[in-house]
Amino acid sequence: MQETPISVKIALLGNTGVGKTCIIQRYTSNNFQTGIMSTSGASYSSKIVHLDDTILQIDLWDTAGQEKYRSIGRNFYRDAYIIILVYDITRKDSLEGLKEIWYPDVQKFGEKYNILAVVGNKNDLYEKEAVSEDEARAFAISIKAEFDTVSAKNGDNIDNLFWTLIKKYCEPIFQSKVSKSVIQKGKTEKINKSKNKARNKKKCC
Ligand code: GTP
Repeated sequence: MQETPISVKIALLGNTGVGKTCIIQRYTSNNFQTGIMSTSGASYSSKIVHLDDTILQIDLWDTAGQEKYRSIGRNFYRDAYIIILVYDITRKDSLEGLKEIWYPDVQKFGEKYNILAVVGNKNDLYEKEAVSEDEARAFAISIKAEFDTVSAKNGDNIDNLFWTLIKKYCEPIFQSKVSKSVIQKGKTEKINKSKNKARNKKKCC
């Protein structure tokens, strides 16, 4: 029985107002509040999930999008394994922000991430779309990131987004668990075989 959950550290980055806090709230509490305060520095929340029989603790870092907090945010996404770059589909400057500010920062300061995603939030405002999905997807491909659009407001695609990224991150961990147990099994079989040999020898002498 697994006692300590496996920690999966995720950080969300992007311009102020793109909806990072709302995405996290939708994922952790399945709600959407209007008029929430802009994040100062960074804020933390977590959620326990089960992947097959493994317990995962999803640690979520919501970094502030305002320019004045940029250097503080770095301390929080430095250790993240999964980094989600968020833009607002109704604001062209928010994708530019990912290209010119946030992704270059991630390259410099993100020390542990191996899964990256570009996510367009507020897809409930499709009629006000100002960023072409093709352009955002092309950017994601160019930086080897996953791509998706979501809505924190109506919950569209939020769970699916996190599941996809978490599963992708966990795949190698599970593979190594499986191969370790195969090796372990191999060892046990070898030990048993040599024990049997020894027993057989004893019998015949
Ligand atoms: P900072 O903390 O300043 O970095 O901003 P943030 O990226 O955390 O944005 P936040 O979650 O505070 O949301 C900003 C505004 O966008 C709020 O007024 C939200 O109500 C609104 N908002 C967030 N997500 C959605 C969404 O999916 N659809 C719509 N229509 N509005 C959203």
